[in-house]
Parts: sequence; C-alpha cells; structure tokens
Amino acid sequence: MNPIEKAKISDVTQMHQLINSFADKGEMLARSLSELYEDIRDYFVVKQGERVIACAALHVSWSDLAEIKSLAVAEDSQEQGIGAQLVEACLSEARELGIATIFCLTYKPGFFEQFGFSQLDKMELPRKVWTECYRCPKFPNCDEVALIYHLEV
Ligand SMILES: CC(C)(COP(=O)(O)OP(=O)(O)OC[C@H]1O[C@@H](n2cnc3c(N)ncnc32)[C@H](O)[C@@H]1OP(=O)(O)O)[C@@H](O)C(=O)NCCC(=O)NCCS
Repeated sequence: MNPIEKAKISDVTQMHQLINSFADKGEMLARSLSELYEDIRDYFVVKQGERVIACAALHVSWSDLAEIKSLAVAEDSQEQGIGAQLVEACLSEARELGIATIFCLTYKPGFFEQFGFSQLDKMELPRKVWTECYRCPKFPNCDEVALIYHLEV
C-alpha cells in the first residue's frame, strides 16, 4: 500500500486533473487551481512514483467543526482501500487537532456511512460552512448529501 503524504505544491496540477475528471462526470464538485493552491495545507495525497493516484482534504471550519472534502481515487486505483485510508488520515488529523465534529457533503453517502458517518439535513450545518458554497455553480440548489461524524477528543 502506498503511504499517505501531505500534498506538495508540485502535486497540485495532478490533483486538479484528478478531482475535475470526476467533477466533469457529476460525481463531485470541481476545484479551481487557485483554491487548491490556497488550501494546499489541507490536502493529503497518495502517489505511485510521481503520479498522484488519490487525494483528500481536511478543512477546518470552526473550533469544533471540520470538513472532509475533495476525496478522489483514480479509477485504476479504486477498490484497494485507498479511499478508506484517506478518510482515516483525515479523521486522525482532526483528532490530533482536537476537533470533535467532522462533516462531508457528497454524492456517495454509502461510502462514508461505513466509517460511522450519519446523514443529517444540510440546513442543520452552521451557516459558516456555506461560505464556499456561494462559489459553487449549483448554489443554491445543492443536491449533495450531508453526513456527520463525532470524534472522542
Ligand atoms: C468513492 C471513492 C473515494 C472510494 O474510493 P476507493 O479507494 O475505491 O474505496 P476503498 O477501496 O477504500 O473502499 C472501502 C470500502 O468502501 C466501499 N465503497 C467504495 N465505493 C463505495 C460507494 N460509492 N458507496 C458505498 N461503498 C463504497 C468498498 O466496497 C469498500 O468496502 P469493503 O471494505 O467492504 O470492501 C472512489 O470511488 C472515488 O474517488 N470516486 C470518485 C469521486 C467521488 O465520488 N468521491 C467521493 C466523495 S466527494
């Protein structure tokens, strides 16, 4: 199994291509290069040599809230446990930071439910998390499912 690493600036163009290849098929939200550079410290990657085969981010929203976002595993690397490893890496970082609640917005709720995430009404999430949504082409007609996970911290 390839290790999980913190992303480097030199990984961003490949992360951009990976995320947006799924976004083009309506499977996740697109990210701009600008967002990825700004949020580079949030991202984990998995690499095969110099190739980025997967990425995910933990983005802190507030003292007790963080989001797992932009989880993507290249098609030829799926079903090998990499997505699960990335979720665990994000949860572990949240635990180290002392953040008790993790949420995600996704079209794949079943994937997150197996880690103990549970669905909630998007409107129950604090307004603060919508800052990013204003930039989304789908706003205000968001069709992603919100899920939440509580950590012991
Ligand atoms: C969803 C995604 C991240 C899963 O990554 P992956 O590396 O293939 O997942 P894993 O191999 O770690 O799978 C772990 C478990 O989740 C299950 N799983 C995978 N995709 C699933 C899905 N869409 N729904 C429910 N369960 C799923 C696997 O069968 C596996 O179960 P097992 O442990 O019982 O065998 C990957 O398919 C992907 O990148 N899809 C496109 C982008 C996307 O939809 N991102 C989602 C979040 S925005």
